Amino acid sequence: MKSVLVPVLLCAAFQSVFAATADQWRGRSIYQIITDRFALPSGTDPNACQPSEQTWCGGTWNTIRENLDYVQNAGFTAIWISPVNQNYHGPRSAYGDAYHGYWMADVSQLNDRFGTADDLKALSAEVHRRNMYLMVDVVVNNVMATSTTPDYSSYFFKDASLYHHYCPIEWGNTTSEQNCWLGDTKVPLPDVNTQNPTVISQYGTWIADLVKEYSIDGLRIDAAKYVFNEGLWHVNIDFWPGFCASAGVFCIGEVFGGSDIDPIAMYQGPQALDSVLNFPLYTALLSAFTIPGPQNISALTQVFEDSKTKFKDVGLLGNFLENQDLPRWHNLSVDPQSMYNAMTFAFMSDGIPIVYYGQEQYFSGNTDPFNREPLWPSNYAKTDAYNLIATLNKVSLPSFVTAFANVYQFRNFLVNTTNWATQEAQILTTSPYGLAIMKGPVISIVTNIGSPPQNGTHIAVSSPYSSSTAMVNILTCAQWAVGAKGMLDAQYTLGGVPNILVPLEMLNGSGMCENELGIIAGNGGKAVALNSSSNIISPTCFVTFLVISTLGLIFTVIS
Ligand SMILES: *[C@@H]1O[C@H](CO)[C@@H](O)[C@H](O)[C@H]1NC(C)=O
Ligand SMILES: *[C@@H]1O[C@H](CO)[C@@H](O)[C@H](O)[C@H]1NC(C)=O
Ligand SMILES: *[C@@H]1O[C@H](CO)[C@@H](O)[C@H](O)[C@H]1NC(C)=O
Ligand SMILES: *[C@@H]1O[C@H](CO)[C@@H](O)[C@H](O)[C@H]1NC(C)=O
Ligand SMILES: *[C@@H]1O[C@H](CO)[C@@H](O)[C@H](O)[C@H]1NC(C)=O
Ligand SMILES: *[C@@H]1O[C@H](CO)[C@@H](O)[C@H](O)[C@H]1NC(C)=O
Repeated sequence: MKSVLVPVLLCAAFQSVFAATADQWRGRSIYQIITDRFALPSGTDPNACQPSEQTWCGGTWNTIRENLDYVQNAGFTAIWISPVNQNYHGPRSAYGDAYHGYWMADVSQLNDRFGTADDLKALSAEVHRRNMYLMVDVVVNNVMATSTTPDYSSYFFKDASLYHHYCPIEWGNTTSEQNCWLGDTKVPLPDVNTQNPTVISQYGTWIADLVKEYSIDGLRIDAAKYVFNEGLWHVNIDFWPGFCASAGVFCIGEVFGGSDIDPIAMYQGPQALDSVLNFPLYTALLSAFTIPGPQNISALTQVFEDSKTKFKDVGLLGNFLENQDLPRWHNLSVDPQSMYNAMTFAFMSDGIPIVYYGQEQYFSGNTDPFNREPLWPSNYAKTDAYNLIATLNKVSLPSFVTAFANVYQFRNFLVNTTNWATQEAQILTTSPYGLAIMKGPVISIVTNIGSPPQNGTHIAVSSPYSSSTAMVNILTCAQWAVGAKGMLDAQYTLGGVPNILVPLEMLNGSGMCENELGIIAGNGGKAVALNSSSNIISPTCFVTFLVISTLGLIFTVIS
């Protein structure tokens, strides 16, 4: 697919058929996939993939397409796939092969390691058939080489004058940080000059063409900017509005950073991108929930409040706990409750939740390359795994996986039937070991106390609901009653589980907890005797509750 100089305006005219805007992405949830590591073609040796070897394991666009049930059954409404364009394909580099897809050479070609143009179109069509969106990762900041004086003849930009000259980044010198090269002398990442008019125009034509050709609904932009140790570099900010306008779809950028919101927030808005990945929230979730860790709830409440004033639109931020560059959550914090609570916050607060493949399997690799595990070993009997999940769903004995699939379905239900996605979350209550937020009608109470049961530990939440309102915890289907003055009381006698509470009456028609609550059976479905300010756990729900806490552990062992 050599890029054809089709006028951008002509492309734009056709884009509305499939392109998705920021607002259309707001209610979505995203499953992030490294194409090479998601699923194997049949007949391939399932034991051959060692992340430490930094080489291809065999996943393709076809194998993603063939395994989308796994993603959709968990309730996700979009996938983000690793870059699709042609990478460096010379001799193996000091850091292995380009299995991850981020080592660009010629963006105008597809990466034939992952399939053909028809394969990518078939994946796109199947994603759309399922009413899901396709997000593709793109890299424009840099290409990859194995020397600081590469031969660019097989690259998209063949003229060395379209790159910044090689220089190692000199810290504290802004010009150097923006123009010098990422990587190192073994694997330099030549920096494309995104201020050059030829580059701007050719990238604009290329992205319009790519989006149109493969019916892409959104772009994840690699290395939009990197913020670290006061250093700011990568692409000049004024490159983005024109690039994303040419693409005509939602653009979410990787502005790598930590808890400092300002340098990240400046990349969201008309002067830059629709949205950015939520690194400040990630950093705060680590501070608040990892065990061991500072367990600093104030760090989370502060980022939450500051984000509202500093970001243009918190509802579009990409909330994540893991990605291809960071250690897996489970590597940092083995107590599964720490991840469940952090996930609950990421799903039920403002923003678009993103789950990096394998997080749901408790993968525990450290940083690159150990965090790019193959998914298939978790899944020897894929169909059995799906049957298990489906069965558990039917009889409503939620494992962690099904409980969180329920959260996604629930989130989809809220998004489909209410304006939930556009309502901003508010903090109701904070405590040294947890907090409660409310977004629309939904109250989520999260804690960092971990799995061991604690008698006497509780979080008293002040809610706007009137006394005796019947609430349901959608993770367990347990019923709760609102006490005097709107109080709800989360007790941790069964360990530090997250709670997601919604008025019972809202669940009618949701498919959530309806058997347990008798809504489908039509036998009333109201909470049994409601009393005082503590939650009431019905016998069935109590068993369910025990099952959920133990199954979490069993799943860890199985995987
Ligand atoms: C900053 O870096 C640029 C590019 O490498 C270089 O030309 C310039 O001399 C540096 N400035 C200082 C003050 O060192
Ligand atoms: C917790 O985080 C807050 C906000 O970032 C910070 O001011 C405070 O020093 C932190 N406390 C501890 C004990 O680290
Ligand atoms: C974290 O990752 C490192 C490196 O892969 C590994 O040695 C360690 O066992 C992991 N920790 C956990 C808790 O899984
Ligand atoms: C929400 O709407 C989408 C798109 O129309 C649909 O595919 C999905 O099944 C709906 N989900 C729920 C839980 O209603
Ligand atoms: C909590 O209290 C119950 C009932 O008094 C007791 O059986 C249980 O051992 C206590 N658990 C802990 C962790 O203290
Ligand atoms: C659920 O909604 C249906 C239709 O709106 C209604 O007929 C039924 O009584 C409701 N059930 C409960 C338990 O509220």
